[in-house]
Amino acid sequence: MKGIILAGGAGSRLYPLTRVASKQLQPVYDKPMVYYPLTTLIENGVRELCLISTPQDIPRFQQLLGDGRRMGLEIDYREQAKPEGIAQAFLIAESFIGKDPVTLILGDNLFSGGDTIQKAFDEFTTGAAIFGYHVHDPERYGIVEIGLDGKAISIEEKPKKPKSDYAVPGLYIYDNQVVGITKALQPSPRGELEITDVNQAYLTQGQLKVYKFGRGFAWLDAGTSSSLSDSSAYVRTIEQRQGIKIGCPEEAAFKRRFIDVHQLEELVREMPRCEYSEYLSGVVQEARGK
Ligand code: TTP
Repeated sequence: MKGIILAGGAGSRLYPLTRVASKQLQPVYDKPMVYYPLTTLIENGVRELCLISTPQDIPRFQQLLGDGRRMGLEIDYREQAKPEGIAQAFLIAESFIGKDPVTLILGDNLFSGGDTIQKAFDEFTTGAAIFGYHVHDPERYGIVEIGLDGKAISIEEKPKKPKSDYAVPGLYIYDNQVVGITKALQPSPRGELEITDVNQAYLTQGQLKVYKFGRGFAWLDAGTSSSLSDSSAYVRTIEQRQGIKIGCPEEAAFKRRFIDVHQLEELVREMPRCEYSEYLSGVVQEARGK
């Protein structure tokens, strides 16, 4: 399974923060935002990654993550010249995807808790898998109506009269048909290749599976000043209470055995002395049984 992190866009709702650095590089408590979706992909066994961003921001992501090799990853970078829709990612990354299935995660989405995502990755064979998250204001989201068999019945973008309270978060899993499906799409009235239209195409074929996130699962989208602040507060609360970090890619890569304890130790050695490196030292010590 290949993985795409979509981290472009205008970030206009976070202006003036986004004048100098993209939204997905802003801090969510103690790490850059992109660490969270990156960690979600690593936790689910995805190690071949393509990060898509704007031409001006790509060098900054490269500075942060490099080619990924030190974490046992392979990270490719591709430019999106203009924000012409989430689904455009499949055209930009076509040669990266090749003949493989692919997962797409939005660079400003933070997922935490439970094993629903793991289940979706483990069960995936063909078609498409998306997620459903219960929200109190369904008019603001892409909304999916779910049948008893877990298949989608309908999917609508920001419906005035929502058919369900389940919003579709920014994490999607597709088989290799996704590239062809996207090529056949027309841009929407707002001039974008819409991810909802991709999902609609799978739905029409009866191939859109939906996994509901249960109670207690957190899905946060850090795209506005208040949601950015809420996300930071959430991460801080959980991390301080549990002493376990959310969104720590080095730890996830180690737990997934993309790197061994020596490589993790080496990464820690290169970091300045700080709370983050002390945390990872703790992971090393625990692995060594100390
Ligand atoms: P949005 O939050 O809908 O858009 P945005 O990031 O441009 O922000 P704003 O509305 O404040 O101007 O995008 C959701 C995510 O998808 C976000 O991480 C950016 C990314 N994205 C792209 O990278 N390219 C695109 O063409 C679009 C539409 C979104």
